[in-house]
Amino acid sequence: MNFEQEINERKNHIEKILRSYLPAESGFAKGLAEAMNYSMLAGGKRLRPMLLLEAFRLFGGSGELAEPFMAAIEMIHTHSLVHDDLPALDNDEFRRGRKTTHVAYGEALGILSGDALLNYAYETAFRAFALGDPVIVSRALTVLADKSGIHGMLGGQSVDVMNDGKPLSGELLRYIYENKTGRLLEAPLMIGAILAGALEEHVTAMEQAGALVGMAFQIQDDILDVTGDMEELGKPVFSDEKNHKVTYVTLKGLGEARAEVGRLSERAMAILDGLPRQNPFLRELIASLVIRRK
Ligand code: IPE
Ligand code: IPE
Ligand code: MG
Ligand code: MG
Ligand code: MG
Repeated sequence: MNFEQEINERKNHIEKILRSYLPAESGFAKGLAEAMNYSMLAGGKRLRPMLLLEAFRLFGGSGELAEPFMAAIEMIHTHSLVHDDLPALDNDEFRRGRKTTHVAYGEALGILSGDALLNYAYETAFRAFALGDPVIVSRALTVLADKSGIHGMLGGQSVDVMNDGKPLSGELLRYIYENKTGRLLEAPLMIGAILAGALEEHVTAMEQAGALVGMAFQIQDDILDVTGDMEELGKPVFSDEKNHKVTYVTLKGLGEARAEVGRLSERAMAILDGLPRQNPFLRELIASLVIRRK
């Protein structure tokens, strides 16, 4: 099987898992469930649940324990996208190949369905207590929560949006990328490892690999914002310019940005190569992100 087929097979498997955890569209809050499912089922690369499952497998994990966390991390990520697109933040009208949630359902449901996805992520992750060791599940939940909040994605998003139109130091840009994007890539790699019972030093290695992948991923996102194709990306191009954002690309130029993505990715793979076990698919997945077009 080639890489393309392998990735599609895994994506289909993840789609099934996600569907099984989404809220039913019934009762008085049906409209909220519809708006949640609208963004969750719009597609997307499903990179975070894929990384979580592959990290779980890398450390010898098997069975269903990873599944609630795979769904939860994608819910938190999707929450971040729904809110990132709101008029008060990036004000974008296209996401995952469809109208953004606030455009399709109105701003109130854009806000509420984003909130509801963040909360539903924890409702979902708590279901792992029925599947595995409570000490391990608690440890994974702690990582999930820490990486998503003020010391993670939300902290990064707040500094990002509060600096629209302002000059940024390299240090502040680094903080933004490490948090808004990096933390939600560290989390799945760590959680997969934790759920499989990996040693603490290996969980830390996964965190470091995730930080490097995250930085590379956001720089590539900035590159695609100016070089990508809207149809292929499923979201608008030149969103950063519209919002007068300083990005790695505006700071260092496209050539240096591309070179940095390559270097960061190499460093992430070197960490994986230093582990006592290997997962060739995970390695190839990380390598493929350097040349991604969406
Ligand atoms: C977009 O994330 C937001 C960033 C962190 C750059 P993805 O590029 O993973 O978006 P989807 O999930 O594939 O839609
Ligand atoms: C946002 O970065 C990262 C998130 C936490 C959502 P961007 O604002 O550049 O992400 P896109 O380009 O809209 O996906
Ligand atoms: Mg943004
Ligand atoms: Mg945005
Ligand atoms: Mg972007």
